[in-house]
Amino acid sequence: MSRSLVHTVDFISGDTEARQLLDELAGRLEHTPGVRAVHGDAGAALWSCSFDGGGLGRLELAAPSDTAAVVEQTHRLVATFSYGTKAEANAFFETVRQLPFSVTEIGKAVAELPLTSGLPSRWPDKPLAGVGVLLTIHHMRDFLVLVDSLLALGVEAAHMTVIDKEYPYANTHRVDAHLVGRHGIAVWRYSDLLAGIADHVGRVTAAGLRSVIMDDGGYVLPAVLRDLPNAAGHFIGLVEQTTSGIRKLDGLTLPLPLFSVAESDMKGMIESYGIADASVRNTLRLLPDEKFEGQPALVLGFGRIGSEVARVLKARRMRVAVFDADITRLVAGHEEGFLTGRTLDDLVAAHRPKLVVGCAGRGSFGLRQARLLPEGAVLVSTTSRDYEFALDELREGSAVVADRGVLGTGYELADGPGILVLGHGMPINFHYAESLSNRYVDLVLAGLAVGAVALAGGDERLRPGHNLAATNAILAESGIVDDYYRLYGPPVGGGHG
Ligand SMILES: NC(=O)c1ccc[n+]([C@@H]2O[C@H](COP(=O)([O-])OP(=O)(O)OC[C@H]3O[C@@H](n4cnc5c(N)ncnc54)[C@H](O)[C@@H]3O)[C@@H](O)[C@H]2O)c1
Repeated sequence: MSRSLVHTVDFISGDTEARQLLDELAGRLEHTPGVRAVHGDAGAALWSCSFDGGGLGRLELAAPSDTAAVVEQTHRLVATFSYGTKAEANAFFETVRQLPFSVTEIGKAVAELPLTSGLPSRWPDKPLAGVGVLLTIHHMRDFLVLVDSLLALGVEAAHMTVIDKEYPYANTHRVDAHLVGRHGIAVWRYSDLLAGIADHVGRVTAAGLRSVIMDDGGYVLPAVLRDLPNAAGHFIGLVEQTTSGIRKLDGLTLPLPLFSVAESDMKGMIESYGIADASVRNTLRLLPDEKFEGQPALVLGFGRIGSEVARVLKARRMRVAVFDADITRLVAGHEEGFLTGRTLDDLVAAHRPKLVVGCAGRGSFGLRQARLLPEGAVLVSTTSRDYEFALDELREGSAVVADRGVLGTGYELADGPGILVLGHGMPINFHYAESLSNRYVDLVLAGLAVGAVALAGGDERLRPGHNLAATNAILAESGIVDDYYRLYGPPVGGGHG
């Protein structure tokens, strides 16, 4: 390596625990491929390791120099690698990124998710003791609180499997480290999805149990029905948290009940605004020097999230156009005062948006429309994975395609403007971020657990197929929305008049 590589991460904990956490990492370095020896100790807060190919790794527990710029009890892990090969550097950083969360950090997250963390006291008889759970929920701190609750509701860690969607969340590696290192839960990558499902089914079947799927994007059941049909009977039911997951079930005959948090009133009416707001906030964070006020924006898809994005952008003083393939939604957008058009091409040509936010689901914007954009336009998606824009078309129609690091991908169109697809077209609220605040997402995470409990308990209202009315009824009965209102609504006995 010509220059040293450095990885730093700030974390919050007491002094003793901070040293222990890094000492554990140093212990794991001893088992990292290519490592010859590890030296150092927790007392010195400094460890080093040498690699067979000449690489040197150094791991240090440091303190931020400017304590006024960080919160109390902040420690800084500083990992440095010099001299060796790229493979050695990758192995070193792969290990040192696996820093579990401290007791202080987990305690803070638990306090921020009172509904999710309170479920075990609502159901102390461990209603999930007789099932396995296969999850594909986003790898964020809030997810760890859900996992803690599922464990407390009775699921054995050995009967749980997590599919890592491989989005670049702010804390992906730390969440992985926590799941594997602290709980011993099996984590499989999305790229090994089928192997992960097969492993889960084998493991849980061997224990004489069946499983509930808790999905976020339709990853599991369509893959099971298509590629592992013999495993379909293993699953008792499916909890799905997002619309794109529901779309992936279109046309499939569901052999089991679906608990559709995705389509529930709770999710549509309460969460969509938060996602829209988090998406716009992260867009602004990634582009701090842009000035969007007074500029034209276009929102694709005037559904639950798109309509909220349009409102948030309008409140940020952008001139907002909306487009929806569904005429009723288009009329709704028009009557709310947004600029609309019958064809997307005409709307783009007339409005020339500086910012395009895709909330439609799939293939809503391609090369033909991109050619009509002004120079420097930015495309942003809220849709799962990179399905929103026709990125292959953009690539084929570009003279230059450049990776612009955390910003995303730049496309210099051969006969059009240079544009930026922010975050490579992945959902922007997760791009090196944690989307909604924990207190906000608490309701939906608690809703997912309510679904798992209802499915595991064989609630008779949940029949094979879609169960939207039953989902709404069970969520309402669970009392979590009442609790949310008690926590964040007007004071009891308050109000005016
Ligand atoms: N980023 C996140 O945190 C997050 C969370 C939940 C959902 N999502 C995803 O965001 C997307 C939108 O979710 P939603 O709940 O608002 O869905 P929705 O079904 O309420 O809205 C989608 C809208 O897009 C319109 N549409 C579909 N195809 C179109 C096209 N080609 N051109 C123009 N309009 C089109 C539909 O008519 C509909 O009005 C989905 O892909 C969903 O999975 C993201």
